[in-house]
Amino acid sequence: MTFDLQKIVRPKIFNLEPYHCARDDFQDGVLLDANENAHGPTQQGLDASNSELHRYPDPHQLEFKTAMASYRNKTSTYKAENLTPLTSENLCLGVGSDESIDAIIRATCVPGKEKILVLPPTYSMYSVCAEINDIEIVECPLLYKNNSFQMDTESVLTVLQNDPLIKLLFITSPGNPTGARIETERIETVLQNWTDGLVVVDEAYIDFCGGSTAPLVTKYPNLVTLQTLSKSFGLAGIRLGMTYASKDLAKILNAMKAPYNISRLASDFALKAVQHDNLQLMESNAKKINDEKHRLLRELTSLDYVDDQYVGGLDANFIMIRVNKGDNTLAKKLYLALATESGVVVRFRGTELGCSGCLRITVGTPPENDKLIKEFKKLLAELVNE
Ligand SMILES: Cc1ncc(COP(=O)(O)O)c(C=O)c1O
Repeated sequence: MTFDLQKIVRPKIFNLEPYHCARDDFQDGVLLDANENAHGPTQQGLDASNSELHRYPDPHQLEFKTAMASYRNKTSTYKAENLTPLTSENLCLGVGSDESIDAIIRATCVPGKEKILVLPPTYSMYSVCAEINDIEIVECPLLYKNNSFQMDTESVLTVLQNDPLIKLLFITSPGNPTGARIETERIETVLQNWTDGLVVVDEAYIDFCGGSTAPLVTKYPNLVTLQTLSKSFGLAGIRLGMTYASKDLAKILNAMKAPYNISRLASDFALKAVQHDNLQLMESNAKKINDEKHRLLRELTSLDYVDDQYVGGLDANFIMIRVNKGDNTLAKKLYLALATESGVVVRFRGTELGCSGCLRITVGTPPENDKLIKEFKKLLAELVNE
């Protein structure tokens, strides 16, 4: 099957000339080109690393992109396939994945006409961004009846092949709220059989299970992989997301983004996060979270009025458990009591497809998890004896 990027990207964006500034050509000297304030930041007491905050940040972030590409190459599970390695040119950075999601929709879908396909239950921002951009949303549920929450590959392909107005398929892997990583073979089947749009794999939680599809963007020009520093890297506050794509598509996405979307502060922290020792820390924290995830699960699923079987998968930094065989009333009461009486906030997900009676619980630190377990047990016992 052939893939033609020009047919996928909106014509004005395909032909966009990126914003160009004098700083692209000259970075040193007396800088009087960008209407900055040479007196410096008005804030007193900034340390040296923040002393340049009166200057616009680097629009390209090559050092960070190179380090991140190299980390994904090194940890790739597709080594035997001899893929062309990722380089900085395969990346575009956004203000969190949320900005990357919005950007890919705007790059490809004509408002009021074209569509995206989502696989519920899933992350709601795809639909929110689609609505904002006046893009229709088509749904094809995950396989929830067998609790696998895998992609129904055959149905997805049927929907895609019968609707030429669908430009994007969003796959969340591992899923939110399902916690289930979507099998790579299923993703590759779609990539090989549908080339009239882009397959966007949102891997916000991938470092908790491994097996990123990012290295595959050099093999499949119709693949886009999204990742973020918000989860495994513990940097939700800096807002930094990564889009991996073919060089041609990454170039278009970079041309389209606001030139200075990544602030100097975000960039400083992001660069530190990809240094060797900090990558090791990220991996060891992910392992600690995974260990705690299993403890949390054992404790909660052994309780009366909590189903033995967790819902979905265990591939992310949260678990989803079902209260009393899908009892939304009890689950909602428990959710509210936890928040208001115990000061422990989890997420009620009982209205999501295949998730009746479900609470999604993020794995915290061991003392936080201890508190959750203790309060959960106490409140559940009180509620069922009411
Ligand atoms: C699947 C998924 N994608 C993206 C995001 C948002 O990531 P970011 O913080 O990078 O915007 C989340 C956040 O919860 C998520 O669950």
